[in-house]
Parts: sequence; structure tokens; C-alpha cells
Amino acid sequence: MRKFFDVEDIGNLEKALEEARSVKSNPFAWKALGENRTIMIVFFNSSLRTRLSTQKAALNLGMSPIVLNIGQDSWKLETELGVVMDSDKSEHLREAIPVMASYCDIIGVRSFAGLTDREFDYNETILKQFIEFSGKPVISLESATVHPCQAFADLITIEEYRRKKRPKVVMTWAPHPKALPQAVPNSFAQWMNAADVDFVITHPRGYELDSRFAGNAVVEYDQMKALEGADFVYAKNWSCPGVTNPSDYGRILSKDMSWTVDEAHMAVTDNAFFMHCLPVRRNMIVSDAVIDAPTSLVIPEAANRVVSVQVVMKRMLEEMK
Ligand code: CP
Repeated sequence: MRKFFDVEDIGNLEKALEEARSVKSNPFAWKALGENRTIMIVFFNSSLRTRLSTQKAALNLGMSPIVLNIGQDSWKLETELGVVMDSDKSEHLREAIPVMASYCDIIGVRSFAGLTDREFDYNETILKQFIEFSGKPVISLESATVHPCQAFADLITIEEYRRKKRPKVVMTWAPHPKALPQAVPNSFAQWMNAADVDFVITHPRGYELDSRFAGNAVVEYDQMKALEGADFVYAKNWSCPGVTNPSDYGRILSKDMSWTVDEAHMAVTDNAFFMHCLPVRRNMIVSDAVIDAPTSLVIPEAANRVVSVQVVMKRMLEEMK
């Protein structure tokens, strides 16, 4: 595996889930694979789970992780080509990427969408430069449009907790005070469309996801109707993807608090499990009662982030043997 970005990169989902079960039950079994190997974990943005789970997975595999916070530990990097570099950005990605790559075997990159230029974000301009100029396997640790390690961990969690062969999974938009990227809902939609689940997306009008990710998923604008009979409720905020109106890209179109997932929402489900990728704004996205209930999976979901990224790194290392 040379890159981990789309659901297609993981191949057969059943096989990937089986591998995830093996990794979870015996995390140190492949420790020899990573001997004398290094992963460079590059952050353009903040992180708790991704930062820690990626390092933990690397250590489980016997690899040495190096973490770099761009602009804090390093020079500020210019990401656009063809610009006169007279700003506060001292170094260009074109040099920084091959230099970083010369010190490692795998690169993981976190680079959020800027939410101002849809074309720049949806072309994955930064991640693509890492793929093109590093010559090393590259993992998206949430890039402009996708968060595949999160979606894989979400799928592992659904597989662990499902009570039906084909559960109903509902992804619901919920309000947030800041404009957030679409990477998590994009990847969750892409992975759920590929999984053996009945998948429904619900959000206010104007928040339609790019068809590349929404695929053929059912979109229901009535949140309560969408939640009826759900087995899993996946809450997430995202800003306007700019599908129906490109000039709205990255904007907050609604802060309607009636979309906050509370006990009344969960009451119409089939005793659903609650999921969120974290970090979460309590009583904006989800009420205290719902996230603190025994049916909340937010902690096991976060714990599975080690498993998902470990499967990906394991496959990359196996191809280096
Ligand atoms: N879910 C997730 O990616 O968390 P962090 O932003 O803390 O890494």
C-alpha cells in the first residue's frame, strides 16, 4: 500500500476487519516488521487522538515515530506553487517534503482544509504534494477532504457492537460554533457506503456532501425521521461543502440547536449506540445525558484509532520486506 486516503486503498473490507481483529487481539505480534523503520508524523493542525494513536501503533510495530508540528517545531511552510515567498513562510513544501522523506520510511500527514478555496481543498493540494514528492508511503491523518483512519476505526467499532447483520447507521449533522471541515463526514460516508450497513445521512438543506463521498446514500432532511429505528447514531458537524452553492463553501449555514442529539432524538432509535470521532462540544453536538450513557461508544471508538492505523502501517511495512 503506497497511500492510505480512500476506502479503496484498504481493499476488501471483510479482510481488513479480520486483520483489525488480529491486530487488536495481539498488537505486538508484528514487532519485528518495524525494526529500524521510522514513521514521520507531520501535523499542520492540532490533534490529540491521531497524534497519540499513530505513535502507539508505530511503537506496537517496533517502529520509531518522529512527530513534527509544522510552524511550531519547524519553519512555517509555503504550500502553494508559483508564489513569491515574501510572507512569513520561510520554506516551501517542495524542499521540506523530500528532506523529511529522507529521514523516514512512512509519512503521516494532518493538514485540514482551509475552507476558503474549494478547489485547493478538494484537489487535496497539500497531501498530493506529499505523495508526489516524498517517494514514501503516505497516510492521510485527516487531510483536506478525508479522515480514513477515523472512518476505519468507526467501521471496526460498528462491527464490534452491531446487534444485527445489517444495522441502520445514521450520520447526523449537529450544530457547532466554528466552521469545521468535511473530512470526517466525507470519509464516514465513503466507508459506510462500502460497508454492509443501511446508511442514511441527515442534515439541514445546503449541507449536501460532495457526491464523490455521499455516493448513493439516502439523504433525509427530517432528522427525527432519519433517526427512526437507527442502530448507530453518528453525530458530526461540518461546514457547507459548497455543492449546491459554491460561494457558501466553508460557511456556517445553521446553528439550529434542535439538531443537538439528545435523549428525545435517541428515543426514536432502536436503542442506538451513539458515536462521535471527538473532540466533541458537549450540549452543542450531543447532550451530556447521551454522551455519558452506557450506549455511548466515543471511548472505544477512539481506542480503535490505534488498531486502524496499525493495520495500515503493518501493510505498508509488509510491502517493504
Ligand atoms: N478524531 C480525531 O482525529 O481526533 P484528533 O483531532 O484529536 O486527532
